[in-house]
Amino acid sequence: MIEITFPRTIIVGKGASEYLRNIEGKKALVIIGKNVRELGFADKVAGYLREAGIEPIFFEVEPEPSVETIMRGAELARAYAPDLIIGLGGGSNIDAAKAIWALYERPDVELASIRPFVKLGLRKRAKLICIPTTSGAGSEASGASVITNPAEEKKMELYSRELVPDIAIVDSDFPMTMPQKLVAETGFDALSHAMEAYVSPFKNDFSEILAIKAIQLIFKYLQRSYMNPKDMEAREKMHIAATMAGMAFANAGVGVTHALGHAAGGVLHIPHGRAMAIILPYSIEYNAKVAMQRYAEIARAVGIEAKTDDDAWKILVESIMQLRRNLNIPSSFKEAGISREEFEKKLEDLANKAAKSAVLRGSPRPLSIEEARKLFIYIYEGKRVGF
Ligand SMILES: [Fe+2]
Repeated sequence: MIEITFPRTIIVGKGASEYLRNIEGKKALVIIGKNVRELGFADKVAGYLREAGIEPIFFEVEPEPSVETIMRGAELARAYAPDLIIGLGGGSNIDAAKAIWALYERPDVELASIRPFVKLGLRKRAKLICIPTTSGAGSEASGASVITNPAEEKKMELYSRELVPDIAIVDSDFPMTMPQKLVAETGFDALSHAMEAYVSPFKNDFSEILAIKAIQLIFKYLQRSYMNPKDMEAREKMHIAATMAGMAFANAGVGVTHALGHAAGGVLHIPHGRAMAIILPYSIEYNAKVAMQRYAEIARAVGIEAKTDDDAWKILVESIMQLRRNLNIPSSFKEAGISREEFEKKLEDLANKAAKSAVLRGSPRPLSIEEARKLFIYIYEGKRVGF
């Protein structure tokens, strides 16, 4: 038996956020970030909500939001008592909205106790609506929420199927304003979700088809979306691909790329998308020992022609590295500007955190502390993984 969870409603396309004009509710708490406010997205959403007779208030969170921010947001929610909580923005804002909503619904629970198979009984006070403005995290389609604990330099990996939003609004007008760098890094986050879901031991027929379609869309449209900010079709397809990849990993899991990436985010402060882009080819090489055939299937699905599976997956890695170069993303931690001194000082902490990551359940190949240490060294130096 497997359990599959998707958002109950997904509204897709240009102008999709106009759906809010007719939404039912009285009071909305909208979780945003600085960019979302500056780009006018918050005003746009507020306008639609007011047309529906709903009074919104806003709570601004920082990128990669901290536990303390979540606590303040939950306090505000309890004081305002909204019947709608809306996450608007990139993955950080949406992750924050989920965590704030959970603590609003359940003031008695601790953030760290939001784990798979723990019954929370959400949706007694409010519905959750998520509106992504970047095309990567897929948080609008998943039950995952990553919150930073700065005191321990740690990413808390919260997960509950109950955190899957009631409504996801995938409005292709929003990603049109994304700067190139963000397109590149968030696009690689989406690619890592789809690829990790495809090779996960929890893969299933539902996650598989979504993962493959997302990968195909990303291979076709990510570079176009990066090159030309006015390419509406490419930006829209990438927005859809990110949500599909989110739906895939929400029902299959992610693995080594995210385990290493969350550690690198917490300890070295590398933004999530950039960490994914740097790590992905190395983690594929690491996993290929046990999942070569699955990667070969992905290769063929994106049109790579090869005689053997062994050739196919290797060409796939080359093409991902080429895409990364074309998108001007660094290929190693060293190239990303992490000093050797800092890396060496923090290597033990990185390896420990990665090997203990909760997301490793979704990896086809286990990762010991020793292997994590070795992988990090290869990723720092930019050395191809052959172990
Ligand atoms: Fe991710």
